[in-house]
Amino acid sequence: MTYDIRNDVKNPFVIFGYDSPEFFCDREMETKRLTNAATNGRNVVLASIRRLGKSVLVKHVQNIMQSKNEIVPVYIDIMPTTDLASFTRVFAKSIFEQSATLTMKSFVAIKSLLTRITPSLTIDSTTNLPSIELKISDDDEALSTIDDVFRYIKSVKKHFYICIDEFQQISEYPEKNVEAVLRSHIQSSSNANFVFSGSKKHLLISMFSDAGRPFYQSSDFFELQKINEKKYIDFIIKQFRKGKQTISDKEAKSILSKTRTHTYYVQFLCNRLFEQRLKTIKAEDIETTLNNIINGNESIYHSYRSLLTNHQWQLLRAIAGEDSIKEPTSGEFIRKYQLSSTSTVSQALKSLLDKELIYTQKGSYFVSDVFFSAWLKKL
Ligand SMILES: Nc1ncnc2c1ncn2[C@@H]1O[C@H](COP(=O)(O)OP(=O)(O)OP(=O)(O)O)[C@@H](O)[C@H]1O
Ligand SMILES: [Mg+2]
Repeated sequence: MTYDIRNDVKNPFVIFGYDSPEFFCDREMETKRLTNAATNGRNVVLASIRRLGKSVLVKHVQNIMQSKNEIVPVYIDIMPTTDLASFTRVFAKSIFEQSATLTMKSFVAIKSLLTRITPSLTIDSTTNLPSIELKISDDDEALSTIDDVFRYIKSVKKHFYICIDEFQQISEYPEKNVEAVLRSHIQSSSNANFVFSGSKKHLLISMFSDAGRPFYQSSDFFELQKINEKKYIDFIIKQFRKGKQTISDKEAKSILSKTRTHTYYVQFLCNRLFEQRLKTIKAEDIETTLNNIINGNESIYHSYRSLLTNHQWQLLRAIAGEDSIKEPTSGEFIRKYQLSSTSTVSQALKSLLDKELIYTQKGSYFVSDVFFSAWLKKL
């Protein structure tokens, strides 16, 4: 969160994490949908392209439900986990730390609950808060610790609302039984609801819709969409007003069109505009600020260049040139951007998708990073 030293007004465009409802735009329908699912005992799979707002939406919902004293919120990001042991460490640590104030007494209670491993209490060097460390050396210890954690959840006489973010990660673990183990515990936890979120839609879909997989049809599927334009425009105008800055409907709309209404990029551009303390935000201010952001990132963009083959790079530029493209293997597109053949384009397309430099949405291909896309278009 950025402070303006001159008049102490917070920059109202947050770009990392969740702050509070005051800095959060809309998502009313989505909040209702997630809340309804939880209060009716349904788990949810929440998917979307990167940086659209899945993680902060879940935190927003948890914040609202917690303020009504309805739940114990737990948020677990399993992106850094690579196997059963690392998952178990992160999972157990998050559940214990976020569901209880860590005191010596609660630590002793947690310690006595664990059957195979002995946790240690440490002081986190960045936050200075007590934290639990768990050493798990083999699969048996991991599985029994997962048992213990679910036993602990059942023993707490409150309702848990647990989000496992980047959930598709578990399908990449070398151990093949993790899905089945979790599914059976989750099924029998009547005082816990789960949100499984992630950006790799195809992996999530196959986990939850392949009849042979443990999580088959176990949860509502919810694909997060972009924020409604009108609501985002009103939000932008309102947030700038907090700094006594004005922006017209037309210019707010142009911010959305330059950023494809892609939440992170809208917030980022607005954050940089706000910091300039302009009285009125005009079209040229938006243009200059966008250019400054893009120019500031140039060295990163150049480094992408060196990671790609010529075919991949040319295709990336061509997609950016069109903003989005439905049929990148069509003769017309290939001719226009001089892209050799259909088969090289197909191959390059696959590599760019694997590297997450592009994504597909409603049948069209886009360069993932909106600012990078704008830079490529100007080359
Ligand atoms: N409704 C919103 N109002 C204001 N800002 C938002 C909103 N949703 C998201 N943001 C901003 O956009 C950024 C990206 O959101 P978030 O990290 O939740 O996206 P994500 O979909 O989880 O991305 P990833 O797939 O990369 O994990 C957040 O840090 C936040 O600053
Ligand atoms: Mg996220």
